[in-house]
Amino acid sequence: MKKFHYIHHACFILETENDAIIFDPFLDGNPSGVKPADIKVSHILVSHAHADHLGSAIEIAHKNKAMIISTAEIANMVSEKGCAAHGMHIGGSYLFPFGKVRITPAFHGAGIAGGHACGFIVDFYGTTIYFAGDTSLFSDMKLLGELEKIDYAILPIGDNYTMGPSDAVKAVELLKAKEVIPIHYNTWPVIAQDPEKFKKEVEQKTPAKVLIVKPGSSIELS
Ligand code: NI
Ligand code: MN
Repeated sequence: MKKFHYIHHACFILETENDAIIFDPFLDGNPSGVKPADIKVSHILVSHAHADHLGSAIEIAHKNKAMIISTAEIANMVSEKGCAAHGMHIGGSYLFPFGKVRITPAFHGAGIAGGHACGFIVDFYGTTIYFAGDTSLFSDMKLLGELEKIDYAILPIGDNYTMGPSDAVKAVELLKAKEVIPIHYNTWPVIAQDPEKFKKEVEQKTPAKVLIVKPGSSIELS
């Protein structure tokens, strides 16, 4: 059984019976109350170095002897802090034990000198998941949907720092994802959104289904 477990904000875990990987492990200051010590993972994927994404990646990496997968600048920075890291960059793919990772562009600050924010398309034991990271809508999402058959698109809808709900509807149209999970909203008042409204609009305008996953809960992945 494969699961998506939502912590909160842009932090979630993909897991099987034998393995788990975490994305953007922002825990210190996350309303979820989850602590780094609660996390058991083999890999940590980091989209950019803003505090609400890099978060507790270094601490979790040390505790679990887990590998950090990110852009070269972040991989270098965490290596210097004694973490195992695999540096990649936009357009590159690499095969990890759980499956292939493709680094996608994200239009957003890197949070680290010389870097670039990214997203990930992960083939997690045969399920293709696109995590957009923090980004605006961009028209090459159409290309990503052509390059990879996306089963689940995990998209920010908070607005202010990233695309908001109406742009995210357009993103779903471009990506042609089967299912969509909105994230990066309702963490703070500045990114308050109504996911039910987003769900209604996506399901009216596209064939995709929106799964609203409450923080702290999991859904089974097909
Ligand atoms: Ni950010
Ligand atoms: Mn963010």
